[in-house]
Amino acid sequence: MCGIVGYVGPQPATTIVFNGLKRLEYRGYDSAGIAAVQGDGEIAVRRDEGKLINLQTLLQQSPINGHIAIGHTRWATHGEPSQRNAHPHTDESNTIALIQNGIVENYRSLKKELEENDHHFQSETDTEVIVHLIDENLRAGFDFISACRLAFNRLKGSHAIVVLNKHKPDKMIAARLGNAGGVTIGVGDGEMFLASDMPAILEHTRRMIFLEDGEMAVIAAEGATFTTLDGAKVKKSITEIAWDPVSAEKGEYRHFMQKEIAEQARSLTDTIGERIDFETGEAHLAELNLSVEAAKNIKRIASVACGTSAYACLVGKFMIEELARIPVEVDYASEFRYRNPVIDHNTLFLAISQSGETADTLAAMDEAKKRGARLVSIVNVVGSMAQRISDGIILMRTGPEIGVASTKAFTASLIDQLLLAMALGQARGTLSPEKSYELAQAIMALPDQAGHVLSNGNDFETIANIFHEREHFLYLGRGINYPIALEGALKLKEISYIHAEGYPAGEMKHGPIALIDEDMPVVAIALQDRVYEKMISQIEQVKARNGIVIALANEGDRRIANLADHVLTIPKTHPLLSPVLAVLPLQQLAYHLAVRRGADVDQPRNLAKSVTVE
Ligand code: AGP
Repeated sequence: MCGIVGYVGPQPATTIVFNGLKRLEYRGYDSAGIAAVQGDGEIAVRRDEGKLINLQTLLQQSPINGHIAIGHTRWATHGEPSQRNAHPHTDESNTIALIQNGIVENYRSLKKELEENDHHFQSETDTEVIVHLIDENLRAGFDFISACRLAFNRLKGSHAIVVLNKHKPDKMIAARLGNAGGVTIGVGDGEMFLASDMPAILEHTRRMIFLEDGEMAVIAAEGATFTTLDGAKVKKSITEIAWDPVSAEKGEYRHFMQKEIAEQARSLTDTIGERIDFETGEAHLAELNLSVEAAKNIKRIASVACGTSAYACLVGKFMIEELARIPVEVDYASEFRYRNPVIDHNTLFLAISQSGETADTLAAMDEAKKRGARLVSIVNVVGSMAQRISDGIILMRTGPEIGVASTKAFTASLIDQLLLAMALGQARGTLSPEKSYELAQAIMALPDQAGHVLSNGNDFETIANIFHEREHFLYLGRGINYPIALEGALKLKEISYIHAEGYPAGEMKHGPIALIDEDMPVVAIALQDRVYEKMISQIEQVKARNGIVIALANEGDRRIANLADHVLTIPKTHPLLSPVLAVLPLQQLAYHLAVRRGADVDQPRNLAKSVTVE
């Protein structure tokens, strides 16, 4: 989705904003622009289609000065990617400039009304109606803040909006309506920052204020004031962010995704942290905010997310049902709220979201809350909307995940669910101390094992050289690693654009086996667990039809080595932990195939890091 950056203070505003936009490149975009109130009191706008380099060229050719500016990277929803549809948008008198993330659902009726009032539109975007609404209110004599507030109250849909006014060159106005991408305000010394995502401004400050749904901020260099959209004053607290700016840098890595895959030994260590007592096996989730009594009263769990996070939910189902004996129903967030779900006060609603801003997931959370469920979310971004609307949280603690393809957040969410399953099982008496201790020992060994997998020399280059031109892949898994087959396929398709499908291996004979031939590689997850023999016969069936098998096996497995065409290996671990290790080679396989195809790994076409529109 769109990236937003703003600045007001003594520094050159355009430089601060442009560098902030560069840190948001990973969010995905098709055009970009910056507006500033210059020293001469006029608003200057530079914007262009395509990558940020085009905007940079424009700024070099025709710089804009000033100490207050806003910038935007656009992910087009209405109006094709073009210079005239790029943000910021201005009114006809060039008095105000505006950027927005989200969709104005009622823009057609508003546009018609405004055109009948003699407003002329320069773009095909829904966003531009907001500019004209504010302009209309200014013409009617309202002050800047009231003109904005009145305009915002007419909008339907979710939005994050920032506005400049050349007659008020010392302040900008920001608003958050609904669950659209966040608006984070960075508090500096005599300067203020604003961004849709913290990495854009982390180098300047770690003191953040998060706008809630229905709130407006008037931001000047010396500070900000907050109100609701009805004008009622709001007191906001400042959150000190632990993330360091360096962790939002690529460093010596070629891609953020490569770095984040490699970081997983450390990120798993951080995720585990002090949450497990390795002597007793007891799990301690302080922020879960769930009493033993409340844990005992849970009758079912609705586990909801999107994309990779939804596949994490599928893995968590195995963990929670095995250890806590609570039925878990997994749903895509975009489906959940439209099927009249059976949710009540005995339901624990578990949402997983790296960004904590995914519109479908937030909407599903709202729906569950309305029906009386207790909300627990597993999130990575501190201060995200999902965290703020939850009754309890389990942070992923991986640090910023910049690559559009989620990797370290996924493995963190698996560990968080295992810890949740243990905590629930211990509270409900379904998990014995012996089993807890066994799991704790396996968890303790996991980061080292992950580090071993990530450096054990699985030969991805050879496999990528052989198969990078194939157009179809099939991923097979069973049991707790069936979701890993889905996740492995998603990793491949979203960054390499190769069509890939994950399938439960047992389903092959019910259709997909018709696809097997010598052109379509089959990635088979065949670990020495309770479904190992089933997977062996599956591989034999594929080989019997001249299929090609890339097997994921446990180290030292000679049977698989003699059966498959290529073998990726991981060490043995507790069955409930095996998905954490099994996904690592599949992340690396997707990465190497995408790089071999020359794909834009960190900014895959059409994708965004955080999908803040439904
Ligand atoms: C995963 O690699 C994708 N980037 C995408 O499926 C992502 O997992 C999904 O959009 C959910 O994002 P979230 O975890 O931030 O809610």
